[in-house]
Amino acid sequence: MSLTTSAARRDLAFHLHPSTNLRQVQTDGPLVITRGEGVYVYDDEGRRYLEGMSGLWCASLGFSERRLAEAAYRQMLELPFYHSFAGKVPAISAELAERLIGIAPAGMGRVLFANSGSEANDTAIKLAWYVNNALGRPQKKKIIARKRAYHGVTIASGSLTGLAFAHTDFDLPIDRILHTDAADYYRGARAGESEEAFAARLADRLEQLILREGPDTVAAFFAEPVMGAGGVLVPPATYFDRIQPILRKYEILFVADEVICGFGRTGEMFGTQTFDLKPDIITVAKALSAGYMPISANLVSNALYDVLLAQSDRLGIFGHGYTYSSHPVPAAVALETLKIYEERDILAHVRRVGAYMQAGLRSHADHRLIGDARGLGLIGAVEIVRDKDSKESFDPKAGVAAFLVRRAQHHGVILRNMPGDIVAFCPPLIASEREIDEMFAGFGKALDDTSSMVREKGLV
Ligand SMILES: Cc1ncc(COP(=O)(O)O)c(C=O)c1O
Repeated sequence: MSLTTSAARRDLAFHLHPSTNLRQVQTDGPLVITRGEGVYVYDDEGRRYLEGMSGLWCASLGFSERRLAEAAYRQMLELPFYHSFAGKVPAISAELAERLIGIAPAGMGRVLFANSGSEANDTAIKLAWYVNNALGRPQKKKIIARKRAYHGVTIASGSLTGLAFAHTDFDLPIDRILHTDAADYYRGARAGESEEAFAARLADRLEQLILREGPDTVAAFFAEPVMGAGGVLVPPATYFDRIQPILRKYEILFVADEVICGFGRTGEMFGTQTFDLKPDIITVAKALSAGYMPISANLVSNALYDVLLAQSDRLGIFGHGYTYSSHPVPAAVALETLKIYEERDILAHVRRVGAYMQAGLRSHADHRLIGDARGLGLIGAVEIVRDKDSKESFDPKAGVAAFLVRRAQHHGVILRNMPGDIVAFCPPLIASEREIDEMFAGFGKALDDTSSMVREKGLV
């Protein structure tokens, strides 16, 4: 971090940082990143960091995949922009749509492109509303998401998000968006409660919420297969097996937000496959283009598409889309990304290195500050606690996980802390076992630093 380089000075003078403590960045200075190589990024003073978060859970192929740069360049020369309104389409976007449906879970029939995860989830809400109007159910409009979920920050997707920082003073959530329990077995289960019993209790609470609201007023349920930014919550056994029949019973659409899980993160192409989900809509972004270009999509079931088609006949148009929906340059990069996943058998790699990372995570579980170590594939987290037995947390004001993450950065590893003193790990899907070792080595040093800090400050 630096206050001296010209990039840092410009940043502090002119840049309004998203999702940042604005005062703190003025004091500490930004971390200016200038280049990347494999799983590493370099700052403007030449220091190297292992990117243990794939940036924002997205740089699945690391930071120097030339094939993606070349795909973008080729496409820029060939057709740098075209759109898909009024029946037109860039050829490459049609090819990407076909390829996506080719790898998508059964039942998905159409692809609607957008630019970000937030937009994709906004679009999914609009589709749920639109479809229920088309089906003559104008009352069936409420959307249920889960507490702690992160689904984006636009007005509607930010309302789905169940985290205070996304709502406070932004006048969110908007009405008609409700939140049910997060599937947090570590914090939410009662003493001695099995995963199955906990899952059944959460499903029952969801059903009670639906019944209280009136099933004919509830349109859709949004969930990530593994909740990412809400704390890396892997659902307890049978959770989705319990939830899905309830959604079917009350004709509530299931939107699987695969913005993090999609494209291999959990060891299958989609989290939908890992947990045997039957969604009506899947939203994807991030690893769709390895994070190299902004692109997202709604994968829409054949059944929903039939409703959209019939409504377009009635209204004369399906009146939704963005200037950059189906933009050819991100589409070319996404297509190349999907080819690379297949050619390099990224799923087999994630299963192997993911198992290695999960073992590494759990090897820290005995540490006195770690209450829980969890994850799946190449996503995981530890939860820092003051007292392991009682699961008592540190005072949030002490910023213990934030301290740990700062120390990890000092030791050359970028991780991320989340509310609840949770530290996340989400390395690029191409990471090797040796790089996972290096990530944990940096984390281990940061954990030692944190142990000393909490002792010195009398926090334990
Ligand atoms: C699960 C999930 N959904 C949606 C989003 C929002 O995506 P974006 O930041 O591209 O709008 C994110 C971003 O982290 C996410 O993790």
